[in-house]
This record gives sequence, structure tokens and C-alpha cells, in this order.
Amino acid sequence: MTTPRATLAFTLNGRAATVSARKSDRLSAVLRDDLRLTGTKTGCDAGDCGACTVLLDDRPVCACLVAAGQVEGRSVTTIEGLAGRSDIGRRLQGAFLRHGAAQCGICTPGMLIAAEALLGQKSDPDESEVQDAVAGVLCRCTGYRKIVAAIRDAASSVRGAPLPQAGSAVGARIERLDGARKVEGTDLFGADAYPADCLLLRAVRSPFHRARFTLGDIDAYVASHPGVIRVFTAADVPGANRFGVIPVFADQPAFAEHEARFRGEAVAAVVGDADAVAALDLTAFPVIWEELPALRTIGAALDGDAPLLHASREGNVLVHGRVARGDPDAALAGADVVVEGTFETGFVEHAYIEPEAGYAARIGDRIEIAACTQSPYMDRDDVAAILGIAPDAVRILPTAVGGGFGSKLDLSVQPFLAIAAWHLGRPVRMAYSRRESMMTTTKRHPAYIHARIGARRDGRLVAMDFTGDFNTGAYASWGPTVANRVPIHAGGPYFLPHYRALTRAVHTNLVPAGAFRGFGVPQGAVAAEQLYDMLADRLGIDRLEFRILNALQPDQPTVTGQVLGEGVDIQRCLEALRPHWARARAEAAAFNAEAGGPMRRGVGIGAMWYGCGNTAMTNPSTIRLGLKPDGRLALHQGAVDLGQGSNTVITQICADAVGAPIAAFDLLSADTDITPDCGKSSASRQTFVTGKAAELAGRKLRQAILMRANAGDDAVLTFGDGVVAVRDGARENAIDLAALPGDARGYVLAEEAKFDPPTTELDADGQGTPYAVYAFGAHMAEIEVDIELGTVRVVKITAVHDVGTAINPTLAEGQIEGGVAQGLGLALMEEFHPGMSENLHDYLLPTVGDVPPIESILIEGNDATGPFGAKGLGEPALVPTAPAILNAIHDATGVRIHRVPATPDRVLAAIRAGTHA
Ligand code: FES
Ligand code: FES
Repeated sequence: MTTPRATLAFTLNGRAATVSARKSDRLSAVLRDDLRLTGTKTGCDAGDCGACTVLLDDRPVCACLVAAGQVEGRSVTTIEGLAGRSDIGRRLQGAFLRHGAAQCGICTPGMLIAAEALLGQKSDPDESEVQDAVAGVLCRCTGYRKIVAAIRDAASSVRGAPLPQAGSAVGARIERLDGARKVEGTDLFGADAYPADCLLLRAVRSPFHRARFTLGDIDAYVASHPGVIRVFTAADVPGANRFGVIPVFADQPAFAEHEARFRGEAVAAVVGDADAVAALDLTAFPVIWEELPALRTIGAALDGDAPLLHASREGNVLVHGRVARGDPDAALAGADVVVEGTFETGFVEHAYIEPEAGYAARIGDRIEIAACTQSPYMDRDDVAAILGIAPDAVRILPTAVGGGFGSKLDLSVQPFLAIAAWHLGRPVRMAYSRRESMMTTTKRHPAYIHARIGARRDGRLVAMDFTGDFNTGAYASWGPTVANRVPIHAGGPYFLPHYRALTRAVHTNLVPAGAFRGFGVPQGAVAAEQLYDMLADRLGIDRLEFRILNALQPDQPTVTGQVLGEGVDIQRCLEALRPHWARARAEAAAFNAEAGGPMRRGVGIGAMWYGCGNTAMTNPSTIRLGLKPDGRLALHQGAVDLGQGSNTVITQICADAVGAPIAAFDLLSADTDITPDCGKSSASRQTFVTGKAAELAGRKLRQAILMRANAGDDAVLTFGDGVVAVRDGARENAIDLAALPGDARGYVLAEEAKFDPPTTELDADGQGTPYAVYAFGAHMAEIEVDIELGTVRVVKITAVHDVGTAINPTLAEGQIEGGVAQGLGLALMEEFHPGMSENLHDYLLPTVGDVPPIESILIEGNDATGPFGAKGLGEPALVPTAPAILNAIHDATGVRIHRVPATPDRVLAAIRAGTHA
């Protein structure tokens, strides 16, 4: 029986408030759903993420754990009331903006509230006091360092730095242009906004990894549940019951038919009034399950007798990847030293703090979907196919995205919402629970890797032979991309004259594995970079100098035969580590010499390279730029900013290309009706590809203005109210914008530019030009191992990255710090077990206390391809961290970890077994 609502009176953000709610309702739900204060976010409803932190009186609490009845007569402060509560809140918001402490922003309200409580008690906290204060709030984007710095710096001025003048935006540490919304709690994420008459949808999902099923009497179910309007199943899909991020591999049904291939796969959706649907016990839904034996490991799936998940995919192999060059067998046979090893990694959960959410509404013969996504145009095309309508009849309106890291490239809520809204003609919303999100959305591929690497006595590498199998789960998702990107990158940023890398993406009855920051490259680096350390040790060469000796040079071919010619800065990255390596090695040696207890210190290096953009395929972005009659510039920028900063960086690039101040720009962010296709936010491509399109569009518009004024290339532009002044030496012209005719969008001048990185298809041996530009980097980890407990504490990470040009160094550092934190999780603590760790309590994420000081060193180079020379950074930032930590564990203990994460039990077992290598 439902508890009746009561009128609750309390003080909310300094004012008397009343609300009609059940006393047992979560305070977070009352704030968000009844009072529509959506600045308070919810990421778990279990007290694990801290996103819902509010002040109850002056104490920070998780609003999801507070019953609404508890607030009667008391005072509640949410992010919406922060600035009005005290000067502390305003100073904190300013400091978060200055430091780049908000990336996606979904954790920001909780962080700010927790910090407000601390600073209310203590005005000048030290680092550990700040860490304690925010320890209950998880952030998946920033690596926490800038958050801690911002809180400690909140005593300084509220005001941000003024925006740079025309021509000086590139390289400036400007605040995130969309940052104010994030620190004020007004950014609208997937679950935050929906029409008032919206229905609620919940999915009925398989409780088994593999099961045949039969649906029962659905009509009777609807009739017997007041408030339920309709149930949708595969029979209700108007178009193709199939979607997938790579069209030729599309294989995932919106609703399973007859058999569920993984635990959590949807078989039906129940839609109705929000209260009624929210209260349903879906275990009582009429479906009869017949559990079937499930393939859960790569080995089981490859067994010749294993049933096929997809009839056309022989041996359960989705795709093979191959890159081969020279004669690796002969070269390894002739090598002076050869090392080999087997390495394994597990599923890793993206664990963004925002579970998938959104709503859909049918507008005549069109459908509009507002949801969190990394890939609006891909969503548009897939939804159109599912509904059997034309792509331009679908409008995708990306909401703010509370972290994605690759998983929000794939459809989640969109098919269900589209099908329901299309049939019902009423808006329908859905928000995944944390469990639903973790159970059903894509993961990092578990990998099983074996490799051999050989070198000459003088330290020069001669060959590598690599095989890697990747557990891609039940459906294709990005399995083909992983299987094709890994063989190119498996050798790392070194010259390898003889090379063979073979990969397979293998289907199992587990959650689909997809894109996760690096498309399999981090797993490959875990193996290769440990083998390089083993090789250096066998050769008696310093591990850093061994890498420098073999670092790829601009005139050397890569393993795909590409000679980059420029922008090959791995040697500079490694050389930048030399003084840090010497200092850290000396400190570790001194520590270990003095240590009488169980602690051992170690230092390790990992290096990386990463091709920016899609692999060996067309990969364009288009930017539109319009000059409005009032003298302002409209930038149609369709790249989704999920925290990485593309809204800001791309505007900085465009501003300098035009020669206009950033303040003259109005940003139109991703919306498939109004922004051209900028592709997906993944593959470290947005700064590089969309940024280049923005540079080209900016230069075209500048040329159009200069032509009108008959001015030379060096002329200075000034954008005023209704006028653009053009000063060319001593000559000054003013273009009266009101006198110019406007186009269909009202622009008096407009330009579009498209950039598609020059790549080629690869031949059967993987030879060709898969990427136009590679980013390089190297990390050094300093760690301490307790050899009695097996615990590992990371003391410091020094991260060097070749960014080409740092468009915004603050945001670049933020990407590095966030990548390091995720790499640390991969190395030491994160492993998703389907069916077991489907919450943020059992699945361990790095917290503020786990992330050490990070020293970022940005290397700028001379690659002319990208915008002002810039390269991508999002994925490169993660790749080297785990191998650096694993090599440091070996340095400290003498044992090699072959299975990540290196949890205390595994480290201890390796120490006890003496797994020396
Ligand atoms: S939503 Fe309350 S702690 Fe996660
Ligand atoms: S900024 Fe903290 S979770 Fe995204």
C-alpha cells in the first residue's frame, strides 16, 4: 500500500518552503521531482557517490539516504542556494571555475556543498582536511587534484580572469565557457528536464546471462495495473529491431526476441504514469525464463563445441585484427635477447556519475530525443532505422553529459523512448538506475594477451610477436574497432622493424564490451610496457634509456609502414622524464635502504602512442560560423562536450582563426537540427578534427570579411554593435552589417568548413595510413608497496604528453589528471564482475585519497595537421599510467603482476610465489 502524502514544512535555501510528499520519500527525489531543484544530482540512490550531497542544517548529508520526513522544521541547502548562503559559496564557485575543477559537472554540486560545510568550519584547511571533507563524493572526470586545489584556493578573489583579447585565445588558460552552469547547478543532464505530462518507462530485463523466454498475458498485466498504459516488446518495433555503432556489424536488438544473450538484456518496457510505474515490482512481470548454459569466458566461447551467439560469426569470433611487417619469426630467432609473457585484464566499468537518462517526444511525424549521448548523429541514424523513418525525421538534442568515456557512444535509453513515444504520441522519459546502468552498458574489454619481444645486445629492438583476444560480450558494439586499433598500437611508440600483431574480438554471454578511453590500447600497453622493462633488465640497460634508444623517429616507419615525418615527439617526452627519473630512483633507493618495516618504494615508466581519430576511415567534422547583424559570431559546434572541454577549446581555436575575441562568440552546441555533423566525441578526435574544421571555418569567415573591406591578411578586425571595423595599416574601414542581406539563418556572412583527416584503408597486413596524427606520452609512477599486506600506494605520477599545441593548458592538465586517475583504477582496483559488482559500493573507484599529486608536463611540437598544431589528449592521458604503476610494483618488490587489477591479494600472492621476471 502506498504511503499517503503529507505537507512538510522546512527551510529551503534560506526561505520557508512546503511540499507535499511521503515522509518515507528520499529527500533527493523530493528536491528533484517535487520541487524541481535538479541541481542536486543522483548517481546511485545508495549513499555511494555523494552526488546528492546537501546541507541539512549545517551538516553535509546524502539526500538519497535522508527520508523527507526528517527535514521537517529543519534547514536544507542545495546548490541552488549556495551563492545566496554565504560568501564562501560564491568564492568556491569562482575557484572551481579558475582551477578547471568542474569537467562534466555532475559531481560538482555535491563537491561544492561538501566544501562549503568544511570552509564554514575552517577557513584555511590543509590538504588532508579537504580530502576528508570530500571523501564521500566521487568524481570520475578530474582525478580530484584540481578540486582539492580549488577548495584550498577559495579564499582568493571570486572574479575570474578576463577573457583574452583577439588573437590570443590559443594557449590561454581561460575558464570553461560552459562552466557557470556547472558550478551553479543549472546544467541540465539527462534526468533533469522533461515535459510536465511525461510518462515514465521502465525496462524488464533478463536476470540470466543466457535464457530463452516466453512472454505471458501482457493485456491482462496492463489491465490489472492501474496507471500502466502500455507494454512494448519486440513486436512493437516499427522498423529494424537492431542497432549498433558500426552499421555493418549492427546486431543488438532494442528488445530481445525469444532468447536473451546477456544478463540485463531488455525484453519489454512498461510505460505509464510516473508514480504507478516507479512503484512496480518488475519481478512480477509475466515472463517465463528458461536459463541456458552461458559462455562466460573467451576460452569457453572459442571451444569448437560452443554454441554460436550469432549464426554468421564462426567460432564466436566477431572480427580478426592483423598488422604484420617484415619477418618477426626470423628476427626473434636471431635476436640476442627475447622476453615473453602473458597478461590478462578484466572488465572495467565506465562508472560515470550520471546514469543514462532522457526523454522522447513525437512532434507530428518527427521524433525528438533529449538524452545524454556522445554521438548525436549516430544516435539519429540508429533511431531512424529502429522507427523505420528517415534520419531527418529524428532530432537528437544532447543534454549535458555527466561523463561518458566511450560508453555513451552506444544507444541506451534512446530505442525504448523512441518506440514508446512514437506509438503513444506522448512524451516518455527513462532514467537508468545505477544497477541497470552497470548491468547493461558497455565495458572495457577484458583482454588475454601473449607477446614476445626481441632485441639486439646493443639494446635495439628487432621484433615483436603479439596475440590478443578480447572478450567483446554478446553484441558487436566497438569490438571491431578494438580488434583493429590494438594491433596498430600494441608495440608502443618504438621502432620495430619486424612485427606481427593478431587480435580477435570474441563473443560471450556477457554484457557487451565497447569503447572505453583507448579502445583496447591501454590493455595492450599493460603487456608491452612490462615486457620492455623485462627486456631492458635482461640487457642491463636503464629502463628509461632503453626506451629513449628505441623511440620512434620522424623518418622511421611505424608498424603500418607510415612515415610520419613530423610530430613524432616520443623521444622528447621520454627525455623530459630524465631528471624526474634520476630524482625518484635516488629517493626510492634511499627509502628502501632505510626502511626497516614492510614498505618498499619503486619507480616505473610507461610510454604510449595513440592515433587521433577513427582508424583508417573517413572521419569528418563540419563547423558552421555565421556573422549576425549585431556583430556577434554564431558558432555552430556539434561536438558533444562531456566534460573534456570541447565547447571551450573549439571556440578558442575559432576565435584566433577569425581574429575575433572569444567574447564576440555565441555558441550553439550540439543539436542535429541546427549544428552540422561533428562526429562522435571519442577517439581523441574533437580538438584535432572538429578543432581543425573550426580553424578552417574561422579563416574562411575572416577572408570573407577582409574581401569586403578590400584589406590584407594582417588587417585587424574589431567586432562592434552592428559593425565590423577593419584596420589595415593606416587604413580603416567599417562594414555596416545592417546594410547586408541576411541568409535563411539571419547571418550576413556565413561559412562552413569540413575537415576529414587524411588516412588510407589498410591492406591485408594492416599496412597503410590509419591516422593522420599520433599523440605521444610517458608517465612515471612512484609507489610504495606493503610487502606484508600487498597494498600499493601511489605516491606521485609525473605525466608527460605531446599535445602538439596546448590550446588551453588548464583543460589539458584536467584531461591528464582524469586519465591518470582512471589508469590508476585500471592498475590497482577496478574490475567489473557481471552479476556481482553492479553498484558503486562493490565496484571500487579511485576516491580523492587514492589519487596522488600529478605533475603534468606538456610538450608542444611541430605537427602542422591539427588546428594550430594541436593533437588529441583524452585517451592518451590514460594509457601509460597502469603500466608505469605495474613496472613500479616490480621495481619495489621484484615480482611481476600478470593479471590486473593488482589488488592486494594478487600482489601478495605474487610476492609469496616469488613471480620474478
Ligand atoms: S545518489 Fe546519493 S549517494 Fe549517490
Ligand atoms: S566532473 Fe566530477 S564526475 Fe565529472
